[in-house]
Amino acid sequence: MRVTTTVNGTERTADDVWPGESLLHLLRERLGLPGAKNACEQGECGSCTVYLDGEPVCACLVAAGQAIGRKVTTVEGLAAGQALHPVQEAFVEAGAVQCGFCTPGLVVAAHDLLARVPEPSDPEIREALAGNLCRCTGYEKILDAVRLAARRQAAR
Ligand code: FES
Ligand code: FES
Repeated sequence: MRVTTTVNGTERTADDVWPGESLLHLLRERLGLPGAKNACEQGECGSCTVYLDGEPVCACLVAAGQAIGRKVTTVEGLAAGQALHPVQEAFVEAGAVQCGFCTPGLVVAAHDLLARVPEPSDPEIREALAGNLCRCTGYEKILDAVRLAARRQAAR
């Protein structure tokens, strides 16, 4: 099967995609975008979160064929060239990145939250990130990162 989809603003095509192949596999193994991480492949950890037509999805649960003719944005696509997105910067500055395996999914989830709720309360942050698991940080630094990103956005 041929899959043509727009990824981070550029039309991309892959051939010989098998029917059961996930969007995550397509992105990582065929299109050279390793940002979204493959941790559980069961929709449990959120490490593979990307936008599909503006909605966050677990790319491991989406068939690659479902992305045909649609728009995918990965964590790589949030940056402007070499300049990190403010949410990405905040994760680095707040010390919210340890092994980094959860970080791409959390960044996309936080980016989505702040687009919908520019000044979220702590319960709103916790709820928005509830589907993203982190084994390393204890989550407090991640909350700090989202609070910092929200303050930066509000100050603009
Ligand atoms: S790898 Fe997709 S949710 Fe864990
Ligand atoms: S930083 Fe290691 S899983 Fe979150």
